[in-house]
Amino acid sequence: MAGKQKLTTIGGAPVVDNQNSMTTGPRGPLLMQDVWFLEKMAHFDREVIPERRMHAKGSGAFGTFTVTNDITQYTRAKIFAEVGKQTELFARFSTVAGERGAADAERDIRGFAVKFYTEEGNWDMVGNNTPVFFLRDPLKFPDLNHAVKRDPKTNMRSAQNNWDFWTLLPEALHQVTIVMSDRGLPKSYRHMHGFGSHTYSFINANNERFWVKFHFKCMQGIENLTDEEAARAVGEDRESHQKDLFEAIDRADYPRWELKVQVMPEKDADTYHVHPFDLTKVWPHKDYPLIDVGVMELNRNPENYHAEVEQSAFTPANVVPGISFSPDKMLHGRLFSYGDAHRYRLGVNHHQIPVNTPRCPYHSYHRDGAMRVDGNYGSTKGYEPNSYGEWQEQPNFSEPPLAINGAADHWNFREDDDDYYSQPGNLFRLMTPEKQQVLFENTARAIDGADDEVKKRHIRNCLKADHAYGKGVADAIGISLNDVN
Ligand code: HEM
Repeated sequence: MAGKQKLTTIGGAPVVDNQNSMTTGPRGPLLMQDVWFLEKMAHFDREVIPERRMHAKGSGAFGTFTVTNDITQYTRAKIFAEVGKQTELFARFSTVAGERGAADAERDIRGFAVKFYTEEGNWDMVGNNTPVFFLRDPLKFPDLNHAVKRDPKTNMRSAQNNWDFWTLLPEALHQVTIVMSDRGLPKSYRHMHGFGSHTYSFINANNERFWVKFHFKCMQGIENLTDEEAARAVGEDRESHQKDLFEAIDRADYPRWELKVQVMPEKDADTYHVHPFDLTKVWPHKDYPLIDVGVMELNRNPENYHAEVEQSAFTPANVVPGISFSPDKMLHGRLFSYGDAHRYRLGVNHHQIPVNTPRCPYHSYHRDGAMRVDGNYGSTKGYEPNSYGEWQEQPNFSEPPLAINGAADHWNFREDDDDYYSQPGNLFRLMTPEKQQVLFENTARAIDGADDEVKKRHIRNCLKADHAYGKGVADAIGISLNDVN
């Protein structure tokens, strides 16, 4: 009620004056005993927390997932237990390269992270709006980010750094082709698909394993911006995606996505012609068609951006019984990196921040640490095994053994499987001539500023995917194919 709430210090003492600091006489210096001034300034000095190393600029909302089709033959995850079942969730969408204050309408991939608060723990689906990624080895991830973020000397984004790196990695061409296509610049977060991208696994009640890829199909329809429209959008409003999502939910125009899966029986992985754990490749739908699962709806805006969006913490390590990992080493790199980032960005007890807290009971034996606010498991035992039956492991959730063999080495996957061109070529050939032209021109604008050798290297990569792709890019850049080889 206006006028009724009373201003206090964090200790609860009344603040008598929030307009005038305490000074010695009307023109004199501040007094150290003005503890309200000291507290207010000290808190302000610490308001900024580290931003996410990438995906720093984002928007979030709460919502609901509803099962529409029975997939219990593939997974025992309780979230999918019956048609009609609903689960609460929180989603955060983001751009990748820009900092926390970056403009939304930039050519970039978009993060698509969803935290499902299931009765068996949080399941985080930390994906993107693209089905593939630039890399196959997590060792290269810091390099990727250094290449797409600011140059260490100029502090500016650098086409040279960006394209020098991308063009030296043949496996990046598929993702680069998507980012340079019309889909590389969504009109808003409501108008893009989402993908788990990696291969994950499903485990059913009979303890059978399947490989699975997750797809979120946008029900609002795909809409994109041209580079020109984006420049105008950024000029008018740097928060165009945040505004679009927030206002749509505010007026009860709730955005929705259909969750679908591609499912591969475990044994197929040995013989399928596409490496099933290669994050730079898709599984053609004719081989593994999309199977309906349910609908995700976003229907509640956060009350407070910092508390709920900035402090949200997603990790692919958060899986639930019936959903698990795969031999994809990119995924393995991520299983470490996210929790590590959360411990740095939010602290070791980040799971106690309400947006991150499981909606089911949880007991880990992890105790103490900065900002432990949940009672710290009180007087219960802190060790296991114990004679009291407290917090026992749950072997009934163990997964079927996974056969893996091979000698330890720094295996060069580029030699083992060097076909990084047929899938980008297929994607190029699927595009209409108009979309191909858009791809050429977006590429030419984006690569402008890189030196000729880098441009020629990109053209050579595109030529390997499809001659017309390389030729189109060369023409748009203004380089003759005779000068390329
Ligand atoms: C954010 C690491 C690949 C999607 C992040 C963050 C880190 C990270 C450290 C910041 C986390 C935080 O501070 O909360 C990595 C590494 C990768 C990788 C090491 C590869 C080895 C990917 C891939 C995808 C992806 C392949 C999508 C398929 C995201 C998303 C976010 C994110 C959506 C933002 C999550 C949010 O909204 O809070 N990544 N990442 N990343 N990453 Fe990755």
